[in-house]
Amino acid sequence: MLAIGSDHGGINLKQSIKALLEERGIKAKDFGTFDSTSVDYPDIAEKVAAAVVSGECETGILVCGTGIGMSIAANKVKGIRAAHVTDTYSARMAREHNNANIICLGERITGCDLALEIVKAYLDAEFLGGRHETRVNKIMNLEKID
Ligand code: RB5
Repeated sequence: MLAIGSDHGGINLKQSIKALLEERGIKAKDFGTFDSTSVDYPDIAEKVAAAVVSGECETGILVCGTGIGMSIAANKVKGIRAAHVTDTYSARMAREHNNANIICLGERITGCDLALEIVKAYLDAEFLGGRHETRVNKIMNLEKID
């Protein structure tokens, strides 16, 4: 199960990503928003991040206008490694090297076709472990700093 969410600035791209996930047979839980009314992106980021951290969902996708606010917000939640991605190479690396459990996209920044390629690159990649695991563990240890 994949968690997905957007604010009003990312709702159209979120719909396109949901269609891609459906085509691929990937189940997604949509944490909103569900219409074009203005909402605060941290509220959606919190819901998606909580679903990933609890194990309800394995990974998440967040969309806002730029992808920046969603990534900043999601990364405040312990256990989250959210990557703001604008190209396919970074999306693959986000999984292979950083074991990102959420990717964040910006509907106002990245065109729909490219955004869908970015999502595919992330979905098709796997964490490589090894030296990357050591580094990801060091990232997670940073959560102990107050
Ligand atoms: C909403 O206007 C906008 O600030 C939001 O979608 C996002 O781009 C924030 O980072």
